[in-house]
Amino acid sequence: GSQKGADSYSSLKGTDSSASDTSLSVPPSAAVKRARNDSGNKVSVVLGAQWGDEGKGKVVDLLATESDVVCRCQGGNNAGHTVVVDEEEYDFHLLPSGIINTKCTSFIGNGVVIHLPGLFEEIDKNEKKGLKGWDKRLVISDRAHIVFDFHQAVDGLQEVQRQAQEGQNIGTTKKGIGPTYACKASRTGLRICDLMADFSEFSTRVKNLVLQYQSMYPALKVDVESELKKLKDYAERIRPLVRDGVYFMYDAIHGPLKKILVEGANAALLDIDFGTYPFVTSSNCTVGGVCTGLGIPPANIGEVYGVSKAYTTRVGIGAFPTEQLNAVGELLQTRGHEVGVTTGRKRRCGWLDLVILKYAHMINGFTAIALTKLDILDVLDEIKVGVAYKINGKRVPYFPANMEVLQKVEVEYETFPGWKTDTSAARKWSDLPPKAQNYIRFVENRIGVPIKWVGVGKSRECMIQMF
Ligand code: GDP
Ligand code: IMO
Ligand code: MG
Repeated sequence: GSQKGADSYSSLKGTDSSASDTSLSVPPSAAVKRARNDSGNKVSVVLGAQWGDEGKGKVVDLLATESDVVCRCQGGNNAGHTVVVDEEEYDFHLLPSGIINTKCTSFIGNGVVIHLPGLFEEIDKNEKKGLKGWDKRLVISDRAHIVFDFHQAVDGLQEVQRQAQEGQNIGTTKKGIGPTYACKASRTGLRICDLMADFSEFSTRVKNLVLQYQSMYPALKVDVESELKKLKDYAERIRPLVRDGVYFMYDAIHGPLKKILVEGANAALLDIDFGTYPFVTSSNCTVGGVCTGLGIPPANIGEVYGVSKAYTTRVGIGAFPTEQLNAVGELLQTRGHEVGVTTGRKRRCGWLDLVILKYAHMINGFTAIALTKLDILDVLDEIKVGVAYKINGKRVPYFPANMEVLQKVEVEYETFPGWKTDTSAARKWSDLPPKAQNYIRFVENRIGVPIKWVGVGKSRECMIQMF
């Protein structure tokens, strides 16, 4: 445990005399060998493999029943994760979906950006639905950055500016995500630890930041005094929850055997580095974000579960090669109730795209896949799957970085006969019609990753576990 870690540190210091000996045959001390063997618990990770809303919340809820800690590592309240338990539908934005599980500690890591009014609004809403005792189960990293109301206002102004200059915007959630991560990168951001420290110092830095923004956006009106007053109250409400996040994770990993789960937000194709840039969010939603957003070593990452719908959806603007702007798209949208949890916008819909899933797997190294919303395909006569992209008639083996190129790719499809059977009552593999099994096996073989779960409905029970 952590005690062992402390011991090995002190004996490490004792080996200093051999530090100048460069001979490769000198073995490490016994304490170092012990420390090496004590690599700690592994965390399991749930990540979106498409453009978001794949059903991550539902997969996390399923796994949370046997987890001790559920962590968020990136994103903010741009995320909207739905969990349905006993007919009650919860939606979580900043709170990890494990919060409804009374045996779980929920952790908001340093990579997350936190809008405190949004967090408390979410808590109040969920208390009305029966959430209790959350304050005993929620931990917040002191290194997480703060989203201010004016970040959200700037998010809106930037969208207006994009529309005016380029004739199109990104279609952000206007939750201030981009401006907050931009502040973080330009080193003008404020963190939870700053809010916990001297408030007058904090206030001065906030006011300076507002002045910077107002010099860029003269139309920006900010009532900074009233925002600071509210933040002072929130500071006292969160103070008991705030910890050194790195030490919290270290302790969870090296303490007694714990099951630790990480809930990804947003998704691979929205990742700031690997997504359909610039129509992406502002954080790393792929596996690297787990290490940087929690402060844990890569060696402690265990299972990496990719979540994908049995078709594809996207909210907001940007290329979408398998989009169906026709009756199929409309059917998927209505049957799938494809409306954004955070913004209430209709989601764009299309066929499953295996090029995207393979690309997400190249980056994340999925160990298994959850394929959700198979039931939505139940009524289709035939089902298509995008299997390759062609540029000028030639197949390309990679996912194009450039948006103009991606807009123009020609998608090669494989067509499957529909099963035309209600699958929503299926609870095991053998309950599924052979044509649905065939579809699932095809997807699995093409991605090259085992499918561990198949979703056939909203609730916990509607998840067929394969192994
Ligand atoms: P997340 O952001 O990845 O957590 O996903 P969202 O909650 O935004 O969107 C997924 C939606 O699909 C939610 O309304 C879920 O209740 C619903 N859902 C998840 N899995 C299934 C499934 O297997 N079948 C059906 N019909 N709905 C599902
Ligand atoms: P979950 O976790 C779907 C999209 C927005 C927009 C773009 C940038 O529920 O899967 P932002 O506000 O992040 O600057 O918006 O990213 N987007 C999502 N779409 N699900 C999400 O999260 C999303 N988070 C961001 O619609 O196109
Ligand atoms: Mg969502």
